[in-house]
Amino acid sequence: MIIAVDGPAAAGKGTLTRRLAGHYGLRCLDTGSLYRSVAATLIAAGSDPQDTAAAVAAAETVDPRRFAASELRAPGTGHAASIIAAEPDVRAALLIFQRAFAARPPGAVLDGRDIGTVVCPDADVKLFVTASVGARAERRWLELREADPGAQLEDVRADLERRDARDASRDTAPMRAAADAHLLDTTEMDIDTAFREAVAIIDAARG
Ligand code: DC
Repeated sequence: MIIAVDGPAAAGKGTLTRRLAGHYGLRCLDTGSLYRSVAATLIAAGSDPQDTAAAVAAAETVDPRRFAASELRAPGTGHAASIIAAEPDVRAALLIFQRAFAARPPGAVLDGRDIGTVVCPDADVKLFVTASVGARAERRWLELREADPGAQLEDVRADLERRDARDASRDTAPMRAAADAHLLDTTEMDIDTAFREAVAIIDAARG
């Protein structure tokens, strides 16, 4: 079974994906970590995120385990990842990795922006997980504050809005819900509620 989980930044996709994978006995892949890993490789080498040749080379040998979670999750890495993600050749290189991952038994839950539309258009169930920008900014801010007590909510919100706009407006594989995706708005939900709702959607979709 393949479950596709797409949606904007900080909508709760990551936690939901890990819990769904545990519940259904599937492997899971945070595809954003692939783009972040390419970004972190370029940042470590002092390269510009617009350097397509360097980004494609990093994408062809991508391995998110090379970086600490703190490096991958840093706001600068997310920003560079969003720029790199607009490059078709980078996406093509990462598509090979993602499809190979999804094809291995017993199947997987993948989260990202284009899983239901491009990576796994034949996924058994597709979720598009979203939440209001205010709720998403607050969640991300609470996370960031642990490492950076000076983080400002307005800056986090502006950064999310910029990134979502870039991810949704690029020409190649823009972020959007697949026509057959089930919408899950987590604005008013805690993670346990979102998980229960997702399981109900998936079980109903599988009949
Ligand atoms: O989900 P995230 O914040 O870790 O993703 C980082 C960036 O990677 C995000 O701004 C867009 C890009 N991305 C993408 O374009 N396609 C995916 N399937 C996953 C992430």
